[in-house]
Amino acid sequence: MSELLPEPIPNYLDSLVPDHPGELREMEAYAREHGFPIIGPASGHLCYLVARMIGARSVFELGSGFGYSTAFFCRAVQENGGGTVHHVVWDEELSRRARRHLDALGYEGTVRYRVGEAVEALRESEGGYDLIFNDIDKQAYPESLPVIEEKLRPGGVLIIDNMLWSGRIFDAEDTSPATEGVREFTRRITSSPGWITSLVPIRDGLIVAFRKPGV
Ligand SMILES: C[S@@+](CC[C@H](N)C(=O)[O-])C[C@H]1O[C@@H](n2cnc3c(N)ncnc32)[C@H](O)[C@@H]1O
Repeated sequence: MSELLPEPIPNYLDSLVPDHPGELREMEAYAREHGFPIIGPASGHLCYLVARMIGARSVFELGSGFGYSTAFFCRAVQENGGGTVHHVVWDEELSRRARRHLDALGYEGTVRYRVGEAVEALRESEGGYDLIFNDIDKQAYPESLPVIEEKLRPGGVLIIDNMLWSGRIFDAEDTSPATEGVREFTRRITSSPGWITSLVPIRDGLIVAFRKPGV
């Protein structure tokens, strides 16, 4: 992923994140060494902030990887009085690795693990979530929206990553399914009367969207 914000802004934003435990630093080192895409400290901290602000106690993550983003939601949920963060990824080994890290961070009672396709897992789940975080393969973003609308509680918040997609959305010649997926999702949610939406250009761009009650 190439950064869109000019240096030194990305490193500066990351440096402002406080209380960063060693376990998270180990996860960041692993991601760097293996080229694994994680949201990183500044975006993670924004997720924690939003979850904490709305008092989230039930969070559903789509595309949880080895649990880095999950850790930020777990912290918020614990501080909000306790609850559940659903970790969903389709790779067994990533799920196992996530459990090791999240147990070490003290979140063993908070996380529920599921190995499988994330939109399907959300569709089959009970719903009523305070917050949904979406970080799956980008071509699947548009088809995830109706399921999210069904499962997020009115007044809940959606956060979705990679909405600047390293700038590929601005390249008219890029019509790949992933880039079109990001464009289409952005068009749908920003033009829907059911959502109040803002794109925050930290790292690769996060959409933060409020599900309006009664619409
Ligand atoms: C971009 S990584 C994100 C990791 C995590 N959100 C973080 O920031 O730490 C997305 C992960 O979800 C997996 N994934 C992508 N699409 C998925 C889907 N539809 N269902 C389940 N897992 C998916 C990928 O294989 C990858 O492990």
